[in-house]
Amino acid sequence: MKKYIFMLAVALSITLNVAAQKFENLALTPPMGWNSWNTFACDISEKTVKDMADLFIELGLDKVGFEYIVIDDGWMLKERDKQGNLVPDPKKFPNGMKAVADYVHSKGLKFGIYNCCGSQTCGGYPGGRGHEYQDALLYASYGIDYLKYDWCNTGKMYAPEAYKTMRDALYTAGRPVVFSICEWGDNQPWEWGAEIGHLWRTTGDIYCCYDCEYVVKKGEPDQWSAWGVWPILRMRKDIRKYAGPGHWNDPDMLEIGKCLSAAEDRSHFALWCLSAAPLILGNDLRTCTEETKKLITNKELIEVDQDKLGIQGFEYQFKDSISIWVKPLENDSWAVGFVNTSKDEKVLNFDFKANVIVDKDFNKTLDANKTEYVIRDLFEHKDLKTTTKKPVTAKIASHDIFMVRLTKK
Ligand code: GLA
Repeated sequence: MKKYIFMLAVALSITLNVAAQKFENLALTPPMGWNSWNTFACDISEKTVKDMADLFIELGLDKVGFEYIVIDDGWMLKERDKQGNLVPDPKKFPNGMKAVADYVHSKGLKFGIYNCCGSQTCGGYPGGRGHEYQDALLYASYGIDYLKYDWCNTGKMYAPEAYKTMRDALYTAGRPVVFSICEWGDNQPWEWGAEIGHLWRTTGDIYCCYDCEYVVKKGEPDQWSAWGVWPILRMRKDIRKYAGPGHWNDPDMLEIGKCLSAAEDRSHFALWCLSAAPLILGNDLRTCTEETKKLITNKELIEVDQDKLGIQGFEYQFKDSISIWVKPLENDSWAVGFVNTSKDEKVLNFDFKANVIVDKDFNKTLDANKTEYVIRDLFEHKDLKTTTKKPVTAKIASHDIFMVRLTKK
């Protein structure tokens, strides 16, 4: 009899292992939403989340594709209850988490939450280690649609297996969830992440600056660095071929509307769109200016990010302080961004005919000698000329971007 039960358990565990997978047909384009961390850190509450949900509608973010509202670290009490369940902090979330999820859903939006592979989250709250299946059931009971899963306090844990355990737990709990692997690129998640999650962080945390490294806990044993817009992009130039529909490289959340200049915000947003990056806002929407609103609701830029081919763009050229980024799009269209990285204004003079651009990773060629394209300015929303005419020219302010879409004539 004992032998029979043992065999049954083995058979069952094999069946469960074979059956568990990530939820398919989710995040077929890069996820778009808002996350609490970049502005609020652990100081979050039901009120903040509800305010953000209301503002999604007021600002029209839902109309251009922003969908997920994600609560980051700090939502729970520092201890699990006697049954080992996570407990939302009653001071911050007096009506529990399901009430918050229900509110977000009532606005036609989706709701996400945060935890961590390790014994504790980065903020010192209970982590998921050893509680994965129990937590997944709890999240499903709240009605969550997105889980960001961090990598603090993991000791010698093996990242692919740790994330796979949570993936299987989510799948077994049965509620479809976008699974966001937040492992900072330490264990090359682009090599194993596609069958486990829908997006994976490629670097450490973003820091609100255009081009800097910010050393956290300098001189201490647990010193680490956060990075500005440019270091993040430069650090992971060679992993674009790993990204695609349902599995994205994630260069971290947006710092738009926080500390950068208007020009820097524009290039930050456009570069994330050119990179087919998840567009997760991090600013306080209650103080969103008209200028920021205009930027984050620029449909033509967002269409570049959300293009169905899901090809991550690349830096084609860096010359005279101008960084040129290119992204192949559906129907033989292309997006091209020219960023002025210098302190001074630059005058661009770019001849598409003299620059045949080859994307070796995805086997695509932009050859204006063979195909005539209409050039459209994605910030001014107007067609300029075609690629057969003289070179395209533009004045680009310091740290700003000139961005165009090329569509076959
Ligand atoms: C890590 C993550 C951040 C954020 C914090 C929360 O640093 O990379 O994005 O989630 O933890 O503590």
